[in-house]
Amino acid sequence: MGKPGIVVVGSINADLVVTLERHPRPGETVLGRSMAVLPGGKGANQAVAAARLGADVLMIGAVGSDAYADTALSALTAAGVDLSSLERTDGGTGVAVVEVSDDGENTIVVLPGANAEMTPGIVAASAAVIGDASVVVVQGELPAAATEAAVRAATGRVIVNLAPVIAVDPEALLRADPLVVNEHEGALVLARLGAGEASGHTAVVEALLGCGFPSVVMTLGAAGALVSDGGPVRAVPAPRVTPVDTTGAGDAFVGALAARLGAGAPLEDAVRFAVRVGSYAVQHAGAQPSYPTLDDALPTAPAGGLLGAG
Ligand code: RIB
Repeated sequence: MGKPGIVVVGSINADLVVTLERHPRPGETVLGRSMAVLPGGKGANQAVAAARLGADVLMIGAVGSDAYADTALSALTAAGVDLSSLERTDGGTGVAVVEVSDDGENTIVVLPGANAEMTPGIVAASAAVIGDASVVVVQGELPAAATEAAVRAATGRVIVNLAPVIAVDPEALLRADPLVVNEHEGALVLARLGAGEASGHTAVVEALLGCGFPSVVMTLGAAGALVSDGGPVRAVPAPRVTPVDTTGAGDAFVGALAARLGAGAPLEDAVRFAVRVGSYAVQHAGAQPSYPTLDDALPTAPAGGLLGAG
């Protein structure tokens, strides 16, 4: 494989997916309906999405030496993601226990396993390939020091999807272009940067821009996304779809965003595409669905949009 356009530095998991009618309350036992072991991890989900949408992708991450490693890597391999920089540890692969209820909502508990063993040194060993990438993608499921090493090695565009919000050094964090967060993560980032509170989604995006991020994307689930690269905050509505499984929808969004930015699209165009891909993803089970090869097969937001409907 030649130089990858996109390098994803992030988590690789096996998802133990239980479907159930509704989520139990604390202290309650409910009966599940089915169980499956599927590939997951936010980083891997993003890499698979970007690759299946046509990008050349290299993934930097770690799996263990257990039986879950093969499952965790299965879709990455099938999607043609370059795994030549993969780290293999002696311990267990990252595992996520995912519960998906009939309304498509999920709860997730992650046991980091090999992901927690990603060090700045392991990442720095791939500094050349990271530096060659036009887009580098990181999330919040690796140790902060490893994520910072990836950002520092990048010379191209850096997408930071701070999910979950971890204590990344502000100087590295502010390289994010864009920072991709949901409303809760956006508020947490503001607090971590000592920028206080902002009321309302648009105000949070504006406050994040005020902290020094060159661009910010806020995902709003069924309501779409907000985007700004310094100008007015623009709303991107989502298509109306019936969710089957929301697991990994945000990752599909980020993978699609990376694919389009890597292909040279302007940020707002890339966000419009990513919203459609995220809407497609929630209609399919698992965190690494196949994606249609034609944009026309993705759901489309009706004229006038649905922002605020979710
Ligand atoms: O975002 C969804 C992902 O979060 C799952 O695939 C799970 O592995 C956790 O990392």
